[in-house]
Amino acid sequence: MKIGILGGTGRMGTGLARGYAQAGHEVILGSRDADKAKDAAAQIGGSVRGGTLAEAAQAGEIIVLSVPFREAANTVRALQNALTGKIIVDITNPFGAVPPDSSGMAENMKAAPHARWVAAYKTNFWKTLDAPMLPSGVRRDILVCGDDEDAKRVVMQLIEAPGFRAVDCGGLSNARTLDLMVPLMIELDRRYGGNALSSWKFMEGGM
Ligand SMILES: NC(=O)c1ccc[n+]([C@@H]2O[C@H](COP(=O)([O-])OP(=O)(O)OC[C@H]3O[C@@H](n4cnc5c(N)ncnc54)[C@H](OP(=O)(O)O)[C@@H]3O)[C@@H](O)[C@H]2O)c1
Repeated sequence: MKIGILGGTGRMGTGLARGYAQAGHEVILGSRDADKAKDAAAQIGGSVRGGTLAEAAQAGEIIVLSVPFREAANTVRALQNALTGKIIVDITNPFGAVPPDSSGMAENMKAAPHARWVAAYKTNFWKTLDAPMLPSGVRRDILVCGDDEDAKRVVMQLIEAPGFRAVDCGGLSNARTLDLMVPLMIELDRRYGGNALSSWKFMEGGM
């Protein structure tokens, strides 16, 4: 598939691009500065290329939203024609910058209501994107939620292609919970000396 990454030159964007490219996808890194994106793409190599935000939004069949949360709504609003009907993987973390009864994704969705929104990767540090599997053989989990079940299934396949386990966390109503797990993840990582290599793990019941 073709994956457009808005904010593709950043830590998360380049990390995701490497994994998607290794899994056989075509990736377009979108930046406010096309030359910066081309340089970032050249460093990754393979099936990754760089361009403007508009080029990434246009070319991508799936769009990853990887700009700072405070810039997310304006970024997608400006591109909403190109995003209509496409899956947007919202990875942005609001860190409390949303009303108490809302979530980062619920707020961002208002800027492109005709896209198909799925929250993912919010609870994963950028440093872990190159290591879907621990030396012990345990797969890292990527928590996913959203109301569009078909879109969520597509995103879960995208997540699993580089080797992560996608965990279906239900609908949009759980997006706030994922948002709140992020500051706790940072706190736990600091307390237990994780050096931003920690991850949330869901242990399934049953044998
Ligand atoms: N860091 C983590 O471990 C982590 C984990 C999970 C989720 N997240 C979330 O993932 C997103 C990206 O995080 P990151 O750590 O990759 O950040 P980052 O390294 O700072 O990259 C963010 C990218 O956003 C673009 N950007 C910055 N300001 C912008 C603006 N005003 N308008 C449009 N684009 C802008 C920049 O690209 P250009 O300068 O090329 O335009 C930059 O490369 C954030 O929302 C963050 O909350 C981060």
